[in-house]
Amino acid sequence: MDQIEGRALPNVWALHNLRGSPFFQEALQSGEGAQHPIDLFVGRVVQLRRHLAVIGSAGTPGGSSRQVISGRPGVGKSSLAQAVKARAAEHGYLSSPEAVALGHEDDTDAVAVRILDYLYQAIMARGRAKVEHESAVEDVRQFIRVFRVNNLSGGLSIGMPLIGTAGASAGRVKTFITPAAVRPAVVVGELMRGIMEVARAKLSAPGVVIHVNNLENITDERAESAARVLRDLRDPCLLAGGFHWLLVGTTQAIRSVAGAAEQVRTVFNFAPELEPLTAEELIHLLTRRYRALRADAKRPARAPVADVAVVTLYRVFHGDLRGTLAALDSASHELLGYAGDSPRAPLTFDDLRSVLPGLYAERVRSLLSPEAGDSLKTIAVTLRKSRMESFSRRDAQEWLSVGQATASRLVSELASNGFAIESGKERTEGAKRPTSRYALTGAARLAFGDF
Ligand SMILES: Nc1ncnc2c1ncn2[C@@H]1O[C@H](COP(=O)(O)OP(=O)(O)OP(=O)(O)O)[C@@H](O)[C@H]1O
Ligand SMILES: [Mg+2]
Repeated sequence: MDQIEGRALPNVWALHNLRGSPFFQEALQSGEGAQHPIDLFVGRVVQLRRHLAVIGSAGTPGGSSRQVISGRPGVGKSSLAQAVKARAAEHGYLSSPEAVALGHEDDTDAVAVRILDYLYQAIMARGRAKVEHESAVEDVRQFIRVFRVNNLSGGLSIGMPLIGTAGASAGRVKTFITPAAVRPAVVVGELMRGIMEVARAKLSAPGVVIHVNNLENITDERAESAARVLRDLRDPCLLAGGFHWLLVGTTQAIRSVAGAAEQVRTVFNFAPELEPLTAEELIHLLTRRYRALRADAKRPARAPVADVAVVTLYRVFHGDLRGTLAALDSASHELLGYAGDSPRAPLTFDDLRSVLPGLYAERVRSLLSPEAGDSLKTIAVTLRKSRMESFSRRDAQEWLSVGQATASRLVSELASNGFAIESGKERTEGAKRPTSRYALTGAARLAFGDF
């Protein structure tokens, strides 16, 4: 026992001169002291330039812009938004490292409060001392406190001071209101104007970049109410002067929310869906990480997994970076130090293949009901036999010999656990709405040895 004391726990990365896992899956973050710094960002030169040009061309003061970043799960959407914010910050634009996060049950009021919270963080991050006593900033702080501690849907009876609707800074009137009587969605515009005045006057900021992440969180199953939220917020928020919106989400989510209502669609600038990084860019990304994570800066780090094995695995994941990194991380934990001729040998694709199917089969068992696990297998086998890339709920119904409701439930279970993703929509004869098509993810392919 005594011998263990004072000694570090085994660190599989140390053999490779690394401080920690180079296969972390978090999005890169802008801002000082970030654990996964945006300096590790690679590629996306064209996209970055385009997004920055839209922001820069909106004009100051008073110009605003609205852009979407869409793509498949894990392709690098959030990191691109972080990179846009970091570059815009070099030109004085405010932003917060934490995006506006959307929750499943969020209605218009909840989203309005989250937006105000984001703005509060953004303005404080740039110049806490210069702005914290400004009345517009204090108003927002109090507002967030009251609406965050109280469940928005519950009856609220706490009074709070709030700006009057006069707006002009000279004549701000403190009014005592009860949250029950004031809806965030109604006052958000006024509060945002107050923040913008402070940002300009005290921090000389040309604007604020607002990053709304994971739009899919509010669209699952309820795309229509999510679209309504955006429509309600269009005039007070989306069109407000000085604000530049980056709306991030999976392609399907963006389409069904931002693209649904004419009034919202027309104010957005839709860039093409984000393509996966190339294999070379992925290797470049990892090389940067190896270098940044060196334990001993005087020596180079060693790649824990051979580049060709990384690239082969990336193909199984069809460009899903996050999925690829997660698989590399799991395989490394199983094998590093044990595979090959020497403990420091980089893992080969055969090494990865020797452990990943088992690990992912286990994941299927632990995440899915036995019924969904069996269905996934049947779907994987049928897709392979018929050389199909995707399937509809109706295909699932037929292949699994179940009713419509059961097929729907099973496909949803596969999707919500990361084994299937919506890959597109198609119009079928006789159907009122377009029906979704689904593809299996890399995780599902690994579980059934289908690679
Ligand atoms: N251009 C890039 N340069 C360097 N690393 C990147 C880049 N894009 C993504 N990554 C890394 O890949 C992983 C996945 O990226 P990210 O979280 O941005 O994807 P996402 O599309 O937002 O995923 P999700 O659909 O799960 O939200 C993260 O670990 C991130 O750090
Ligand atoms: Mg993301």
